[in-house]
Amino acid sequence: MNILEVRNVTKIYEEGSTKVRAVDSVSLVLNKGEVLLIMGPSGSGKTTLLSMMGCILTPTEGEIIINGRALSGLKENSLPEIRKQYFGFVFQSFNLFPSLRAVENVEIVLRLKKVSKTRMRSEALNLLDNVGLSQRADFFPKDMSGGEKQRVAFARALAGDPPIILADEPTANLDSKTGREVLMLLRGLAEETGKAIAIVSHDPKAEALAHRIVFLEDGKIRR
Ligand SMILES: Nc1ncnc2c1ncn2[C@@H]1O[C@H](COP(=O)(O)OP(=O)(O)O)[C@@H](O)[C@H]1O
Ligand SMILES: [Mg+2]
Repeated sequence: MNILEVRNVTKIYEEGSTKVRAVDSVSLVLNKGEVLLIMGPSGSGKTTLLSMMGCILTPTEGEIIINGRALSGLKENSLPEIRKQYFGFVFQSFNLFPSLRAVENVEIVLRLKKVSKTRMRSEALNLLDNVGLSQRADFFPKDMSGGEKQRVAFARALAGDPPIILADEPTANLDSKTGREVLMLLRGLAEETGKAIAIVSHDPKAEALAHRIVFLEDGKIRR
């Protein structure tokens, strides 16, 4: 069953007098329980597409439909709420707060998602445990390896149990073995918890783990 649909979406960036058609009439669906891989060369529009899927960026044309509801029908100020309810994000560069311990990096999202103060610590530890990091809860990012930091980022993305996970080049800063572990973790999440997962990557390892692959080229899906 699809939880997210991209229907005929275009994004045009305007920089002074030049216009860049970064995503050009793209349609796709993301189903529960699957890992969808979006591949394509640098500059092909992958990050732009993923940002629109995650309601971080508004399309110039077309529709993003989440759980049967078209976002264009919503007010701009309701988008943060949609993001919180539906999405967990993982970025290439981890985006952890350097001054916060692993467990606190997870708690900060739980707080945003209105988890009660009393449950916050145990829930954050639980999420870290799920990604095999209970031994690192009190570590600061600078004292963790790339793979460990990326797993903290995943624990954080899973905070509040969102149905959709979007990951932009999640293995780009990881060694090959760690990258594979992170990808296996994602695949397991989709299959065991029914989450819908979209990954942008040009890592060949991701090809083997995805349930479905789409290729972007100059903003278009290659057929
Ligand atoms: N904020 C922006 N303003 C103007 N152009 C942008 C912006 N972000 C991306 N672009 C352009 O849009 C195209 C697609 O970029 P992007 O979605 O980042 O591709 P990818 O993630 O596949 O490398 C590129 O030509 C890029 O230069
Ligand atoms: Mg990108």
